[in-house]
Amino acid sequence: MATVLAIETSCDETAVAIVKNRKVLSSIIASQIPVHRQYGGVVPEVASRQHVETINQAIAQAFEEAGTDWAEIEGIAATCAPGLVGALLVGLSAAKTLAILQNKPFVGVHHLEGHIYASYLSAPDLEPPFLCLLVSGGHTSLIYVKDCGMYEKLGETRDDAAGEAFDKVARLLQLGYPGGPAIDKLAREGNPNAFPLPEGKVSLPSGGYHPYDSSFSGLKTAVLRLVQKLEQEGVQPLPVNDIAASFQDTVARSLTRRAIACALDRNINTIAVGGGVAANSGLRKHLQAAAETHNLRVIFPSLKFCTDNAAMIGCAAAEHLDRGHTSPLTLGVRSRLAI
Ligand code: KG4
Ligand code: ZN
Repeated sequence: MATVLAIETSCDETAVAIVKNRKVLSSIIASQIPVHRQYGGVVPEVASRQHVETINQAIAQAFEEAGTDWAEIEGIAATCAPGLVGALLVGLSAAKTLAILQNKPFVGVHHLEGHIYASYLSAPDLEPPFLCLLVSGGHTSLIYVKDCGMYEKLGETRDDAAGEAFDKVARLLQLGYPGGPAIDKLAREGNPNAFPLPEGKVSLPSGGYHPYDSSFSGLKTAVLRLVQKLEQEGVQPLPVNDIAASFQDTVARSLTRRAIACALDRNINTIAVGGGVAANSGLRKHLQAAAETHNLRVIFPSLKFCTDNAAMIGCAAAEHLDRGHTSPLTLGVRSRLAI
């Protein structure tokens, strides 16, 4: 398998990694979170500038940490879509420039493909077919991974992504940005049964509910109504731990139910989880327990490879390179692109 230098700059992390044989030799993640926190979310133009300022140093650090040099690198990869266009351009341009200078093959990687392959880093024996529960800030999907580059979407959210719901509820509870980790932390101290909240369901025209699709906007509104009700009743301070725990538990149960139903219906015995929300302790607990009950294998990436990183991009690129897949140097970035 190939040794790859990978760059990921689709949002607010300037990430560079060197990956070999599903093994991470180095992974540098220069987070911009403190810069964006003052604005309450990611400011695209600020993100692009930060990537420009940080990228060269991150590449140098990745080589230093891995103890490798250019002679060992067999390919250069970067995220090409989806994401913030200006931010993506920084990483993609850097990768293409290095590919020309070093005369190495270049591979553009879909960001979500990276999240799928993050599970290979914690379970190097994993091979398709498997089901991926992809839960990030921008996406919530159930993807059937038939083979490298062959994906079928079996379920998705009809409105907010799971991570987006965490971020919005955190904003409502004034917990700051990013919201997922803040809610996760508070939920550990709270009672998940304190406030029954509705699990969003997607109705089918023929009656009943879609078994794999999810909806989180109603849940977010239910939390808003709950907060307003408690405030009207003069409850002070707000029981944020219990609200966070109840919300998190509802999301975790909803995702678990859909992933398990999909795996069982399709006769798929392995579920790999990917994306920032894969770091969530409630989801990890519920899905692990349900998978054991049904005799399914469930794989979570290690916490540092759930949220955005370049190691997952390198891992996906290595799989493609092994199959002789490369990208032309004319490849551009796309803010949206189906996997
Ligand atoms: O995969 P990711 O880093 O970026 C995207 O591709 O979107 O995911 C970021 C999302 C954010 O919405 C963040 O709040 C959420 O993942 N997140 C979490 C946790 N850690 C990150 N959500 C719930 N629990 C966590 N521990
Ligand atoms: Zn991501």
